[in-house]
Amino acid sequence: MKHTSQTIYSKKQAGERIVSLSLYDYPSARIADGAGVDVIMVGDSVGMVLLGHENTLGMTIEHMLYHTAAVAKAVKHALVVADMPIHSYNDPEKALTNAQRLLREAGADAVKLEGGVKIQAQIKKLVTEGIPVMGHVGMLPQSVGDGKYRVYGKDPDEATLILEDAKLLDGMGVFAVVLECVPAKLAEEITKAVRCPTIGIGAGPATDGQVLVFHDLLGIRSGVSPRFVRRYADLEKIMKKAAGDYCRDVQNKKFPSKKESFL
Ligand code: KIV
Repeated sequence: MKHTSQTIYSKKQAGERIVSLSLYDYPSARIADGAGVDVIMVGDSVGMVLLGHENTLGMTIEHMLYHTAAVAKAVKHALVVADMPIHSYNDPEKALTNAQRLLREAGADAVKLEGGVKIQAQIKKLVTEGIPVMGHVGMLPQSVGDGKYRVYGKDPDEATLILEDAKLLDGMGVFAVVLECVPAKLAEEITKAVRCPTIGIGAGPATDGQVLVFHDLLGIRSGVSPRFVRRYADLEKIMKKAAGDYCRDVQNKKFPSKKESFL
């Protein structure tokens, strides 16, 4: 069965947790979908994880169309949620045009936008036009830019704003909301306060679902890994060894052998 925004929404009522990964290419999508992931996000973190940028600010709608199309082609069961990159939803009309492109041209099932009250006109437009929308509050990488990646909502005033944003999005009809880098207690409070499911990243165990970047989980990403990431494999080590073995075989004339040649 292929997930829809409605089946994901219903999981909260049914008491079922939502499993999500953020990934950007055909083989990763095929593997994650086959493993039973419910929601595949094509995050604009692609700019940092695959393209080597410092932040997500350089991502364009063309980047997201390109990666979403590759992912959507592989997915049979999961809901595919495409991130709307910075500046692609500056006003409601622009948001609608770009969201429709992500759905119609690239094959996404839904879109995700960062923010609450500041983008309520855009969210309202998309929901009214029947586009399934996922919200995203807490740490907003498109707003943080080069600034500090930190936990948002430790301060009571900041926590209130995040809670209000989540409630506003819920009331406007988003089918789920990502809570990024917020204290576990705040995530729990939001999860109890909204009808739609919450999907946490660095937000503790009380959310209705969890999302991780697939490369982080696989241990491919070099550099500093956030504290909330759990590595389920060390693929970087395995890939390095394979590449090193190949180098040595070619250098020592051990590859290709007769078996690997057309005689
Ligand atoms: O860009 C991204 O990958 C995301 C998820 C981690 C939520 O926004």
